[in-house]
Amino acid sequence: MTGTLLSTSDFALAFSKFVENMNGMAPSSFNPFAERLRAHFGVDDLTTLVVLDRPFPPRDRTTVELALREMVRARGRASDLVAPTAASLFLPTFFDLVAEQPPGYPPVRLAAVERVVLPLPDGESLSCVKLGAYLVAGTAGERFVAHVSKHDVGLDKSLVVSFVARDLEQTQSLVAEFDGLLRDRSVHRGQVLSLDGSEDLGVQYHNFPIVRREDLVLPDRVIITLERLVVGYSRHAARLSGHKHHRRRGVLLHGRPGTGKTLIAKYLSRAIPGLTTFFLTGCGIRQLAETCALARRLQPSLVVLEDVDLIAAERANNDRSALLFELLNQMDGVGEDADITFLLTSNRPEVLEPALAARPGRIDATIELPLPDADARSRLIDLYASGLDCVLDDREAILTRTKGASPAFIRELVRRAALLAAEESMVGAIRIGDRSYQDALDELLVASGPFAKSLLGLHEADS
Ligand SMILES: Nc1ncnc2c1ncn2[C@@H]1O[C@H](COP(=O)(O)OP(=O)(O)OP(=O)(O)O)[C@@H](O)[C@H]1O
Ligand SMILES: [Mg+2]
Repeated sequence: MTGTLLSTSDFALAFSKFVENMNGMAPSSFNPFAERLRAHFGVDDLTTLVVLDRPFPPRDRTTVELALREMVRARGRASDLVAPTAASLFLPTFFDLVAEQPPGYPPVRLAAVERVVLPLPDGESLSCVKLGAYLVAGTAGERFVAHVSKHDVGLDKSLVVSFVARDLEQTQSLVAEFDGLLRDRSVHRGQVLSLDGSEDLGVQYHNFPIVRREDLVLPDRVIITLERLVVGYSRHAARLSGHKHHRRRGVLLHGRPGTGKTLIAKYLSRAIPGLTTFFLTGCGIRQLAETCALARRLQPSLVVLEDVDLIAAERANNDRSALLFELLNQMDGVGEDADITFLLTSNRPEVLEPALAARPGRIDATIELPLPDADARSRLIDLYASGLDCVLDDREAILTRTKGASPAFIRELVRRAALLAAEESMVGAIRIGDRSYQDALDELLVASGPFAKSLLGLHEADS
């Protein structure tokens, strides 16, 4: 170093680094959050406060938010929401935020409250506090804090509400009050939803149009059996309980594509008030464990696992059935006493057979949705042409040509026939006659090869 002279700009740089380091090493004693708490509780030593953590699955964030909003306003309480942060700490706990930061670390600051906007079942959304502390003041000197934060260790990514008060008894009674507000109340109850992979959004509500019984063209025995399995146990739960029968049930619903598996699952999802339905498809299967836990909490529940053959066919650990076994184990895991129906749908049940045979007792019923016979095809035409002016002189001819067609195919046929009829008349009411149907069938059948036919839902009929 001797004799080396720094240039002015190098000196300026070195000096500013020196000042920065000195700043960092100075004790960062002022903690605005700790000051607010001292004033709030009227205590000097914050370590005398009692903290109780209440963890929740992140999917419960909207329910927790609504309950917290209610609690901090209850019985004349007033609250202030602040957001303490410490840039140096990853996921600080409540005590981290009030403790003195070591020299050299950025101090605790009060920042803007971080919120996340999440969907509600009615299509509205709710902005939920992600990180923040409610400083609550009630009547008769009541003081407490409800601190919302998160816990993120490995797979455990819970949302945590920490209740803070002057003594254990008060803190415990706050937790009890909060649990009371949450009891039997969940934003998800009675809804049709899917859990998705994202940590924050997490829940998707399905508000599809209500499927009425008259929208289903299926043999009565199929509908009655399914209703009995899904609804019957729940309806007679009180009288059936106490007997040595398991309440959890598993149903495999299979049939060719377009025969109404998804449609009937939608119908059943509205079968009893208060039933919570979970739809899982494809990669949603990764949320199965969490779905089962939620289904158990919100029972009676219906868990619809769509196209389970895809799961069986997925190669995992070189074992074609590994994921399916996992699925069956999860079904087992909810316990026999749970009022939950697992409705598995598939159009390739033969793929499932070995796995199901190896794990007996999970599936109580296997129900096939048949291709519609002539009478059912005729009813389907009437169903999908209702509201349209449709007069058929030779209905038989159309029924014969549609042998082997799925209900989905018939729906498409009526749509095409209506379109052709509309193009023909150009103005006025649409009138669909035999010609429109025959032309639509030509378009759908003649112009398409065998692959397109099966895609459209025209199968080799048995009858
Ligand atoms: N049994 C039925 N009664 C009345 N309409 C039906 C019926 N089956 C299917 N449809 C009509 O076809 C559409 C598609 O049917 P859906 O999606 O339920 O078939 P799927 O059996 O689930 O087929 P995939 O195996 O391809 O999933 C339905 O939305 C409905 O409009
Ligand atoms: Mg389907």
